[in-house]
Amino acid sequence: MAARVSGEEMMRLSLINDSTIYFRLAGKVSIITGGASGIGASAAQLFHENGAKVVLADIQDNLGQALAQKLGEDVRYIHCDVSNEDEVSNLVDATVKKYGKLDIMYNNAGILGRPLGSILDTPKSELDRLIGVNLVGCFLGAKHAARVMVTQGQGCILFTASACTAIGGLATPAYAVTKHGIVGLAKNLAAELGQYGIRVNCVSPYGVATPMYEGFSADTAPMIEESLEQMGNLKGKIPKVEDMARAALYLASDEANYVSGMNLVVDGGFSVVNPTMMKALYPAKL
Ligand SMILES: NC(=O)c1ccc[n+]([C@@H]2O[C@H](COP(=O)([O-])OP(=O)(O)OC[C@H]3O[C@@H](n4cnc5c(N)ncnc54)[C@H](O)[C@@H]3O)[C@@H](O)[C@H]2O)c1
Repeated sequence: MAARVSGEEMMRLSLINDSTIYFRLAGKVSIITGGASGIGASAAQLFHENGAKVVLADIQDNLGQALAQKLGEDVRYIHCDVSNEDEVSNLVDATVKKYGKLDIMYNNAGILGRPLGSILDTPKSELDRLIGVNLVGCFLGAKHAARVMVTQGQGCILFTASACTAIGGLATPAYAVTKHGIVGLAKNLAAELGQYGIRVNCVSPYGVATPMYEGFSADTAPMIEESLEQMGNLKGKIPKVEDMARAALYLASDEANYVSGMNLVVDGGFSVVNPTMMKALYPAKL
């Protein structure tokens, strides 16, 4: 026979449920690199709404400070160039000094470089620049977060990689190299840090209209989104920064308590479908 629950107990349980639903990062301390803009800014807002203390790290100081001020209590901005080890180390230390711990390190900062281009005309300087920010930045973020998390015996390290890690042809070779490197890093850190209870995962977005694209503005965003929708697999849906932020929230939360070493590709199925044959055979139906 089911146990009877008093009215008071029901109220207590619903409050617990509410806090589970609405505050999925209650009491957690997070750092988000590249947090001043795009996916990082959306994740900052969502993490904060879900009860996390958020430290935004970026090189766009005005944007970062304005966002921290807008989000309010428990959100701080710290200038940090992720390719500079001293700055990354200071970022982690300043966060732990302020909040006493670090639960979530979201290594999201990244640059695109040239949107198009062959390996034949890729200058080594371009490759070095992309590796320096996208890959070295993630490596340093993970290294200094792990330094704290190993001692804590828990933590969550996240990266923003890209759907170009799941299928060829989505990015320049230099950009693709950096994002594949991040997925390799995540898997190897999942192996190394699992013994300390630290989870390591990636979010891999399909295209999203953000300032990362040259020529992005409030005016051009709808055009970028329209072409992303046309090229995408899911019709009638436009990929948004919030979609990527929600994937990061899931991986950062205790709902993903036993998820590690995963590359969560948020691309509406783009990288696992190839409609070319069906379109050729049945053009009228597709
Ligand atoms: N937008 C997309 O279509 C897309 C697709 C796949 C992956 N991504 C990845 O998502 C992440 C976020 O990009 P976004 O689309 O939000 O672009 P964005 O340009 O809006 O945000 C990137 C942020 O990173 C910051 N940044 C750049 N270099 C930095 C450095 N050296 N140190 C610290 N911060 C630095 C920028 O100032 C910016 O605020 C990137 O890693 C990007 O590669 C984006």
